[in-house]
Amino acid sequence: MKTKGTGQPQETEPVKLPPPETAGGLSLMQALQERHSTRTFSGTPLPPQLLSNLLWAAGGVNRPDAGLRTAPSAHDWREIDVYVTTAEGAYRYAPPTHMLMRLDGAVSGDIRYLTGVQDFVPTAPVNLVYVADLDRMGEAGTEDKAFYSASDAGFIAQNVYLYCASVGLAVVVRGLVDRDALGTALALGRHQRIILTQSVGYPADDAS
Ligand SMILES: Cc1cc2nc3c(=O)[nH]c(=O)nc-3n(C[C@H](O)[C@H](O)[C@H](O)COP(=O)(O)O)c2cc1C
Repeated sequence: MKTKGTGQPQETEPVKLPPPETAGGLSLMQALQERHSTRTFSGTPLPPQLLSNLLWAAGGVNRPDAGLRTAPSAHDWREIDVYVTTAEGAYRYAPPTHMLMRLDGAVSGDIRYLTGVQDFVPTAPVNLVYVADLDRMGEAGTEDKAFYSASDAGFIAQNVYLYCASVGLAVVVRGLVDRDALGTALALGRHQRIILTQSVGYPADDAS
């Protein structure tokens, strides 16, 4: 991992994801029944199709006419960016194009270990990072920005929990993270705040 810490990540090389599969999985009520946190992962990478489905569930566009998302956001600010860290590198998910924007220049390599402080964190093939861009939140005051960005990230995290429950993936949302270290690694600016992180992968006893 190398960082420049300049406050502005360079985004290069968009990575096209397969279109999300929006059918299948457990019913909503079954997924609610199955939803739980897991902290052991097999380490097997997620195939592109599952990553595509996961990110669409997290906050993809479900009403293309208006660009609206699978997760609600206060005032439709859409201020939460989903960053994706894997063994290959770090990316920002771009919902309008359903692409991954590779962070380059400021960030390279595997920074999964920086997305949490618990030992299992780097063993999960995907660690999502929910980053609020406070500049998108209009004239809201500091307290409102903190409240609404935390709420909005929570909806995304629950979407991810339910998607994972519906297809049998292991997942845990996390607030324990060194935000300064991770923010530096992601070259975040002063207007950006890390809210939560979330580990996703196959459960340890199912390496298929
Ligand atoms: C906002 C939030 C922050 C959390 N932070 C962590 C964390 O840093 N590490 C962790 O292992 N679990 C974390 N959790 C997961 C909770 O410990 C877990 O949801 C709780 O024990 C209930 O278990 P369940 O999700 O299986 O119902 C967090 C959950 C929430 C909602």
